[in-house]
Parts: sequence; C-alpha cells; structure tokens
Amino acid sequence: MEISNKDFKVGKCEGQKVVDGETMPLVLQPPEPNKSDTESLISVLKQNKHWFEQMLIKNSAVLLRGFDVKNAEDFNDIIEAFGWDDMRYIGPAPRTHVYKRIWTANEGPLSESIFYHHEMVHIKESPKKVMFFCEIPPPEGGQTPFVPSFRVTERMLEEFPEAVEEVEAKGLKYTFTAPSKDDTSSMRGRGWEHAFGTSDKAEAERRAKAIGMDMEWLPNGGVKTIMGPPSLTKVFDGRKGRRMWFNTVVGMHGKESSSAMLADGTEIPENFVKRCGQIIEEESIQFKWEKGDVLFLDNMALLHGRRPSLPPRKVLVAICK
Ligand SMILES: [Fe+2]
Repeated sequence: MEISNKDFKVGKCEGQKVVDGETMPLVLQPPEPNKSDTESLISVLKQNKHWFEQMLIKNSAVLLRGFDVKNAEDFNDIIEAFGWDDMRYIGPAPRTHVYKRIWTANEGPLSESIFYHHEMVHIKESPKKVMFFCEIPPPEGGQTPFVPSFRVTERMLEEFPEAVEEVEAKGLKYTFTAPSKDDTSSMRGRGWEHAFGTSDKAEAERRAKAIGMDMEWLPNGGVKTIMGPPSLTKVFDGRKGRRMWFNTVVGMHGKESSSAMLADGTEIPENFVKRCGQIIEEESIQFKWEKGDVLFLDNMALLHGRRPSLPPRKVLVAICK
C-alpha cells in the first residue's frame, strides 16, 4: 500500500520515530490550505476509508494535523465518517460524556500522569482503535505519548527470556478496587455504579461476569474486581506476527488500588516490573499537541499514556471496535 495519496500531504511532527521501517505517527495534512475545513476532510476520509485503515494498521498511529477541527461535534463527524462500531468504555478512568460518541479522556488531576496501557486491555474485547482530539492544547506537558508494543516484548525477551516465558505459560491475575461512586480526585476513581451502569450489585456482577471479571464486595460499598488469567503477550491478525506486550502488569502491580500477579498467586519479581516500566518509557514516542489535532491509534499495536500537564488542557476521546 502506497503511503502517498493526492488527498493528503504527508507531514512531519516533533518526536516522530521510524520503528521497524514505519514512521510513527504518520502525519497527514491538507493537500492545499483551502482544503482544511472539516467538510472537505470528511469527504476525503470517506473516499479513502480503506486506504486510511490500512495506513493505521501499517504505521500504528496516524495524526491528522492542520485541519480546522473545532469541537466535539466535528470530531464525532470525523469518527462517524468511517462507520466503525462504537464501544462503551469500561475501566477505571473517570470520564464524562460530551457528545454522541465523544467523551472526555480522563477527569483525574492534570498534575498526575497516566501510565502507558492498551485501552481496556483487561476485558475480553478491547477496542481496536482509540482516537483523541485536542480542543485545547496544554501550555506545558500533557502529551499523549504512545509505545510500539512489540518493541517492549522484544526488549523484555532480551533481558528476561526465562521470566517472560514463565509468566506467559502461567498467565496473569489482576485485581482492582473501585469505589461505589465516582471520585474525580483520583485518576482511577471511576465508581462501579458508573462503570457498570447500575447500582444493583447482582446486575453489576452479571455484567462483570460477561466481560470476564469476578467481584468481591467490600464493607465500604466498593468492590474488588478480579480478572484472569490473561496472557502476557498477544499476536493479532495483520500485524506482521508481532508479539504485543498486551498486559497491564506495570500499571497494576503493587498499587494501593490494584495488583498484578501470576494466575497461581505467585508474585511477579520487582525488578521485572521496574525494568519493564523503564523500557516502555524508553520506547515511547512523544509529540506535542496542537489545537485541532486528531490522533488515531491502533490499540492492538500501541500502548498510550498521558504526561502531567499545566491547565488548561482539553483532549477528547472516542473508542471503536
Ligand atoms: Fe487510555
């Protein structure tokens, strides 16, 4: 598949990397300044849907830059131009619905970072695509860095060949503790009532079971969810056989509200987790948000996170099957 396309100009951005021959992110700009309006963009996206989807798999990340995307309505129209199925978010981030398919990314404090993750890695069916739109770029910090997941597996295999295969063979177990109501003072403060869309415990349990979670109720009204045994890495169709680091061990391990261990209850060695966190950071691709940017990520191939930021910052999100 050719990268060049008469409907877009291929640009560059700060922090871009070439990984295994592919530029990440691929930056697509208007072919001419008078084609930067959202209507023109939507029309070329519709004409180039198949090409765009192939670019997204090939380059893992595509950044639309220089288009006049103004608000959640424009962002929603762009996502709907592709006709991909919408998905409901399930996870710990406190999020607010904005418009149709569009949500705030995370209402937790801007001063904190969000560790790299594949979106909804802990449930049975994760979204294939995660899209971000920058309405208000932060004055400082606040990047949404992302990481080619297969590179993490490659480097962990170089340093911990036996441990990686042992964890893979045994499988993982995660636990996560959620309050009953949303707590926006925490990055992971999403209440179970909101997360499962019900305040009925029996119904919440049924919904949890359907996505592969068990629950233990806590005296304070909160819940401990138990997920397992997912594998450490995964290979997805069409991604060059790359072995993705499709887990959330670093994010969940040894935290106040979460844990990650082997499925048989054995602890994962501290140095394995610590070094993995460093490798993920080293492999990360950082770019600076500009107003109107729309970033498409192949969630099967990339982890993403968020850097601490000064206010104001407004980045919206959509997830699709
Ligand atoms: Fe995320």
